[in-house]
Amino acid sequence: METNKTFTMIKPDAVAAGHIGAILDQIIKAGFTIKAMKYTYLTAQKAGEFYAVHQGRPFYNDLVSFMSSGPIVAAILEKDNAVADFRTLIGATDPTKADEGTIRKLFAKSIEANAVHGSDSDENAAIEGSFFFSGLEKF
Ligand code: TYD
Repeated sequence: METNKTFTMIKPDAVAAGHIGAILDQIIKAGFTIKAMKYTYLTAQKAGEFYAVHQGRPFYNDLVSFMSSGPIVAAILEKDNAVADFRTLIGATDPTKADEGTIRKLFAKSIEANAVHGSDSDENAAIEGSFFFSGLEKF
């Protein structure tokens, strides 16, 4: 269990809107270290696998097509208490409910196009990091 790491994606809406730099700036200023990072994209199949836990929920199909609609930035981040602190930094899933100053409040367009992903547990952070990065890329 890696209690000091989390996994994030800058989602297609935020990449398309030109917010990669501003979001990374917030992440770094909040004390996270970038351990691995790539500019890439998810095919619909890969997006479906990544969000398999939500299969069957009403928003699943739209989420999969949104997440495969354009490039993303995937990254592994390190910090003490990384998972919880990153969830605080990004704010609530629905940006209308996110606290002022959070990344989703600042940059998200909707509950679906919500700018960033953040792992919800240490276990999922490790699984999601390994979905995108090999042992060669992680250190
Ligand atoms: P979830 O894991 O509940 O949220 P979070 O990303 O904050 O951990 O949901 C995963 C993604 O699914 C979420 O970021 C956006 C999308 N989603 C919707 O499009 N509609 C919804 O009603 C919910 C709950 C999520």
